[in-house]
Amino acid sequence: MIVEPSKSSLLLRWASLVSGRPFVIAIAIQLISLCLNYCLFCLTEAFHFFTITILFFSLIQGLFSLLISYFVGLKWWWLVIQFLLPNFVAIFLAVGISPNIYLTLLIVFLLCYVPSWASRVPFYPSSRSIQTQLLSLLPQNKNHSFIDIGSGFGGVLFGMQRIHPNCRYFGIELAPLPWLFSFLFGKLKRSSIVFKFGRYEKLNLAEFDVVFAYLSPVVMPSLWGKAKREMQAGSLLLSYEFPIPSLPPHITIQPDLNQPALFGWRI
Ligand SMILES: C[S@@+](CC[C@H](N)C(=O)[O-])C[C@H]1O[C@@H](n2cnc3c(N)ncnc32)[C@H](O)[C@@H]1O
Repeated sequence: MIVEPSKSSLLLRWASLVSGRPFVIAIAIQLISLCLNYCLFCLTEAFHFFTITILFFSLIQGLFSLLISYFVGLKWWWLVIQFLLPNFVAIFLAVGISPNIYLTLLIVFLLCYVPSWASRVPFYPSSRSIQTQLLSLLPQNKNHSFIDIGSGFGGVLFGMQRIHPNCRYFGIELAPLPWLFSFLFGKLKRSSIVFKFGRYEKLNLAEFDVVFAYLSPVVMPSLWGKAKREMQAGSLLLSYEFPIPSLPPHITIQPDLNQPALFGWRI
């Protein structure tokens, strides 16, 4: 007998797919838009409606991609990327920009996103308000150790240190370019934040009072397993946007319903 998955489990699977692999979904959407756009192009050619220029083609491609991305539920910055990407390509082609620029952009992109193919957690920044939410959870009278696992370009840590410099801040990041940026920027600012390059899975979380993650639903069960094994009693695990399945959080902060929540579990 074939058991149909319930609507909610399908929705959950879809949510997990979208948040875990937005990059793949974004490419798929561009390809679907290209097919739709090509059909439109053939129709206008067949019926001699009007002549489609490359800039018009790219504008329609951007609009199709934006609309599909919106209905699929991609985040707002993906909508912007989906619209701008084909238009930039068309403008670059029209202006005749040097191929070295494409190569540089491709290398930058690969250095930011290729490692996330394996970890299934791409880079996307958390909102600025997360810094104050995180700080509200740190008692001000103690020199806590705080780590952002998957620290990206270090935005969360730099922001927190500016407001509350007394904590010991750490970041670990898998993608070379974001890590290099945070490391060099930290050196330039003479910041005491320690930025490590590597996978958080290899790090012992016992050293930290507060562990903050903004990763993806896919990794939450294994992150909880690691936290339970390694984190000390009294420490705190925080996750932005993604809850641990079947484990009600001790803390939920969501000042604005349009923003994702910050979840916390006391160990
Ligand atoms: C959603 S971004 C969050 C960035 C930053 N923490 C923030 O809140 O703005 C997730 C980051 O985790 C990194 N990442 C993914 N898997 C990782 C792993 N196993 N170890 C270390 N970093 C990882 C990604 O490269 C990406 O930069």
